[in-house]
Amino acid sequence: MQRTFIAIKPDAIQRGLIGEVIRKFEKKGFKIIGLKILQLDRATAEKHYAEHVGKPFFESLVNFITSGPLVAMVLEGVNAVDAARKLMGATNPVNADPGTIRADYAHTMERNIVHGSDSPESAEREIGIFFDESELVPGWKRDLEERFISL
Ligand code: RTP
Ligand code: MG
Repeated sequence: MQRTFIAIKPDAIQRGLIGEVIRKFEKKGFKIIGLKILQLDRATAEKHYAEHVGKPFFESLVNFITSGPLVAMVLEGVNAVDAARKLMGATNPVNADPGTIRADYAHTMERNIVHGSDSPESAEREIGIFFDESELVPGWKRDLEERFISL
């Protein structure tokens, strides 16, 4: 089992897509072990996107990600980091495979609906920015899993 950090970006929230995005991850089989809505401040946004400091799009990226509320989420699953990014699709939605979140709901790179950690190390770092460990509910079991285990 692995954890990944997902943010449903302000564009998705403005467009009423929180449920659609969560639904995709949930139906795929990820377990949601952390979930909240928040207004990101500038300092936290810069910390989250520290790897992009100095790039030409950094300023507009931070402006965008702080432009309205976002939903922060921690998912648990097998190869969660890679599996979540696969489900999200390519950074540029034009290149995203059909059926992925970005292919279905976005058409520009700057408004691409969702963020997902790019490595297990990034995931732990990003989870730590957005969540206190006490806010997470790791390792919970579905009723069906309990039943299969006992059969
Ligand atoms: P994310 O971090 O949001 O999950 O996206 P990603 O890993 O697929 O892409 P990344 O390279 O980390 O870029 C972070 C976000 O910055 C915006 N971006 N704009 N205009 C540009 O050239 C450019 N490049 C990146 C995108 O919104 C991307 O999601
Ligand atoms: Mg990234």
